[in-house]
Parts: sequence; C-alpha cells; structure tokens
Amino acid sequence: MNARSIALPILALVAHAVTADPRGVHAEPIADSTASFVEPVARSFTDSAMSDLNDPARIIERGRYLVKVSGCNDCHTEGYMQGNGEVPTEQWLTGSAVGFQGPWGTTYATNLRLLLNDLTEAEWLTRAREPKRPPMPWFNLSAMTDADLVALYRFVRSLGPAGESVSTATFPDGFFLLNRQLV
Ligand code: HEC
Repeated sequence: MNARSIALPILALVAHAVTADPRGVHAEPIADSTASFVEPVARSFTDSAMSDLNDPARIIERGRYLVKVSGCNDCHTEGYMQGNGEVPTEQWLTGSAVGFQGPWGTTYATNLRLLLNDLTEAEWLTRAREPKRPPMPWFNLSAMTDADLVALYRFVRSLGPAGESVSTATFPDGFFLLNRQLV
C-alpha cells in the first residue's frame, strides 16, 4: 500500500499548543467556584446516558456523537483532518493509509468498521480497554463507561462493514509497552 508518513513531532507540537494554558502559572484554581454547577450537570449527563440505553435510536445517535467529539475520525478516517471533518458518515472509520512513525515503528489506524463487525459487544468491551501502540490514545478509550463504549459500538455496527484492511504495522524488535510486548 502507498503509505504516507507524518512526523510525530508535529503532532506533539499541536498537542502542546492545544493543551498549553494561556492563563499561565498564575491562573486561579477553578475547581471550587465551578463545583456547584458542575455536579448537577454531571448528574443529568449520567441520567440521560442511562435512559438512552432504553432507546435504540438514541443509543446510536449518542455513539455517533461520541465518535465525532472524541476524535476517532481524526486518525481512523482517511482525509478527515485534511477535509476539516467533512467526510460523509458512510466513509467514517474505514481506516487510513497514513503511517504514524516513531520509536514504536509504523502503525496504521485500524479499519474499525471491519473490526467491530467481527466482534460481539462483550468482546468489544474487552478489546476497547486493552493497551494499543502509539499514537492510539487507548487510555482515553479505556476510560469510557460501558454505556458509552456500547453506544459507540452500536453506532459503528449500524453503519455496517466497509473498506479494506489497513497496512500491517511494522515495529522494531523488542518494542515494549506497559511491560507487554505488542507483536
Ligand atoms: C491519534 C490517532 C488516533 C486516534 C485519535 C484514535 N486512534 Fe485508534 N488507533 C490508532 C492507530 C494508529 C491504531 C493502530 C495501533 C496498532 O497498530 O497497534 C489504532 C488502533 C485502534 C484500535 C485497536 C484495533 C485492534 O486491532 O485491536 C481500536 C479499537 C481503536 N483504535 C479505536 C479507536 C477509537 C474508538 C477512537 C476514538 C475514541 C480512536 N481509536 C482514536 C490511531 C488513533
């Protein structure tokens, strides 16, 4: 496959620019002043997530929302970042030929439409929480609640399988992640 490679340092710079606190070191702590309204918001969010589980259409809509805002398309959908996110939903999550190069070798964002089509919901809950090679932010995915992971799964399944498998990752001998060799 004709793989393009992008340099990770660029990603790191972008990440720094996004996370850098413009208020600098003198920023006031905001936790206390916001606690009074953050808690009810968090509670109503949980309540609506729970009620979604009784409505198949709303679960799927919630899964679509989660995929969109948690950035899965950024890497797992070809052309999504270059196209300012304007890729038709039917093409979402079909994997990408962009190779991510770093000390771990070269990885390609998986075709999730094919992967999830082959997994049961229970298998997905396990797979979603297993460590994965960079730059997959697996720690973010594993922090999702079961309800969110199920919503994400059902949305992807509602789209059906599409596309081809991505190129096979290559990695240097002996690359370890969290004391586990990912081969
Ligand atoms: C910064 C880019 C990036 C983002 C954002 C990202 N992924 Fe990934 N993802 C990857 C790459 C690259 C791989 C392949 C890693 C490898 O080869 O081990 C991967 C692998 C995976 C896998 C493992 C597939 C398998 O075979 O087990 C799953 C599941 C997955 N991603 C789901 C998601 C979901 C869901 C989201 C959104 C919440 C997401 N990813 C966001 C880049 C990304």
